Amino acid sequence: MGSPSNPNHDESGFARLETADGLEVLVRLGTVDDEKLLVEGFEQLSDLSRYNRFFAATPHLSRSTVDHLLDVGADHVVLVALTRDDRGGSRFPAGGIRAVWLDDEPGTAELAVTVIDAYQGRGLGTLLTAALAAVVAEQGITTLSAEVLAVNEPMLGVLRSFGAVLQRHPDNANVITARLDTGVASARLPHQERTDLLTATTRAERTRSTATEPS
Ligand SMILES: CC(C)(COP(=O)(O)OP(=O)(O)OC[C@H]1O[C@@H](n2cnc3c(N)ncnc32)[C@H](O)[C@@H]1OP(=O)(O)O)[C@@H](O)C(=O)NCCC(=O)NCCS
Repeated sequence: MGSPSNPNHDESGFARLETADGLEVLVRLGTVDDEKLLVEGFEQLSDLSRYNRFFAATPHLSRSTVDHLLDVGADHVVLVALTRDDRGGSRFPAGGIRAVWLDDEPGTAELAVTVIDAYQGRGLGTLLTAALAAVVAEQGITTLSAEVLAVNEPMLGVLRSFGAVLQRHPDNANVITARLDTGVASARLPHQERTDLLTATTRAERTRSTATEPS
C-alpha cells in the first residue's frame, strides 16, 4: 500500500455512501487537482486490474493518460471514492469512475470504473456505478455504455447486476459491449444517499463554476 493521502478537501463536497457489504466511503466529484490521488491509487492496482482497466499491460501511467483521466470538462463526470485507514484520520483512494459523453449518441455516455484491489469484492464497483448513473441522469444521460474485456468477470458481474444488455463487440471477439439504463442503475442507491450525493455534487459543481467565471 502507498502512503496515506490527505487531499484536504472541503468536507461539504463529499457524500457518505455505504456499499452492500458495509464499506463506508466518501464520494465526491473528481477535479483537475486530483493527480496525486490518481497516481497513489494507480500504484495500488495489481497488474491484472491495470490490464482490465486499460486493455493492455500498463506498468506506468503516461503523462497523456494522466491528463486524459484528469480531464473533467463539460462532457465528463468523474467521481472518486475515499476511505479511511484502520487507525482513523487519513483517507486512502478506494476507487473512481468516469463517464464521457458520446458525441455521436446523444443521451449516452461511456463509463469506466476502477476499484483498488484491497477494496474489490465489497460492492464498491456496484455502488460507484449506481452513483455515477444518478449524477449523469440529472444531466440528461439515459444510457451508460461500456467496453469490457470478455474475461473480466468482476465487471461483467457488476453490469449484469444492473440488467445491462451485453453483446460481443462486432470487431473484436475479446471485448463485450454493454449498455445500461441510468434510471435502473440509480434506483439501486437508497433515497437518502442519492439525495446526499446530488446535493454534494451540485454544490461542488456550483463552486467550480463560480471559481472559473471571469471576474
Ligand atoms: C470491475 C471492478 C470495478 C468491480 O468492482 P468491485 O467493487 O470489485 O465489484 P463488486 O464488489 O461491486 O461486485 C459486483 C459483482 O461482480 C461480481 N464479481 C466481483 N468479483 C468477482 C470475481 N472475482 N469473479 C467473478 N465475479 C465477480 C459479483 O457477481 C458481484 O456481484 P454480487 O454482489 O452478486 O456478488 C473491479 O474489480 C476493478 O476495478 N477491476 C479492475 C478495473 C476494471 O476491470 N475496470 C472495468 C473496466 S470498464
